[in-house]
Amino acid sequence: MGPHCEHRRPPVTANDPFAQLARERRSTRAFLPTPVSDDTVLELLRLARLAPSGANLQPGHFCVLRNAARQRLTERLVHAWKTGQQETEDYSYFPQPMPMALKRRQVASAQALYGALGVAREDRAGRDAHFERNFHFFDAPVALVVTMEHAFGSGGYMDLGMALYGLMLAAQSQGLATCAIGALASYPSLIRQTLGLGDHVHIVCGLALGHANPDAAVNQTRTCRCEPEEYVRYLD
Ligand SMILES: Cc1cc2nc3c(=O)[nH]c(=O)nc-3n(C[C@H](O)[C@H](O)[C@H](O)COP(=O)(O)O)c2cc1C
Repeated sequence: MGPHCEHRRPPVTANDPFAQLARERRSTRAFLPTPVSDDTVLELLRLARLAPSGANLQPGHFCVLRNAARQRLTERLVHAWKTGQQETEDYSYFPQPMPMALKRRQVASAQALYGALGVAREDRAGRDAHFERNFHFFDAPVALVVTMEHAFGSGGYMDLGMALYGLMLAAQSQGLATCAIGALASYPSLIRQTLGLGDHVHIVCGLALGHANPDAAVNQTRTCRCEPEEYVRYLD
């Protein structure tokens, strides 16, 4: 961690319940087998849906994958990835080209992850073995695929992102943990076909949800954030 990676804890929010949730949430990539009830999942999704959206359009859907549907999707995703199949994603994420400042953040997050796992930079097999875990939803008891109506533009993604963060924090407040899985967005056609979704549906990401396994090395991953000097501007 560099000098900008310290989590400063402003005393003003020290005991604030929201601040605590926001600080404690982190992407969790190993879960206990403890089940999460359908009622709990539904309640979390209701809370997520309280997120604001432009004209209250509430874009997006959550597919809760169960049993054979989940197994089939995982098998097909793993196969597609292992055989090097390529698809065009429904939406772009990474800036092209990636500015150096962002590249550094990306590298730091990968180092945090693989460092926690004890996987060396040149250990391709070790990295691949971990990457495959994405397609298993990290064995979380709850596996979601997040979709959005294709006709939405960037604003829809913004709205859905707010709902996703709401979902993550709602889960956190119930003692549950999450990880968004953008890796799924690499295979939109495969996912649509496997889940029987129409062409009008965009595949946004997956989401793993469950009780964190506190002993898993991967869950010791800690990321940092840049300081306000880098992202706040005062204009008079
Ligand atoms: C839209 C989105 C997609 C993501 N996709 C993945 C993914 O495919 N695999 C993964 O392990 N983590 C994924 N993450 C987790 C990020 O790596 C993580 O949020 C970031 O490194 C910051 O760490 P933190 O969530 O622990 O604070 C994703 C996060 C978001 C918001």
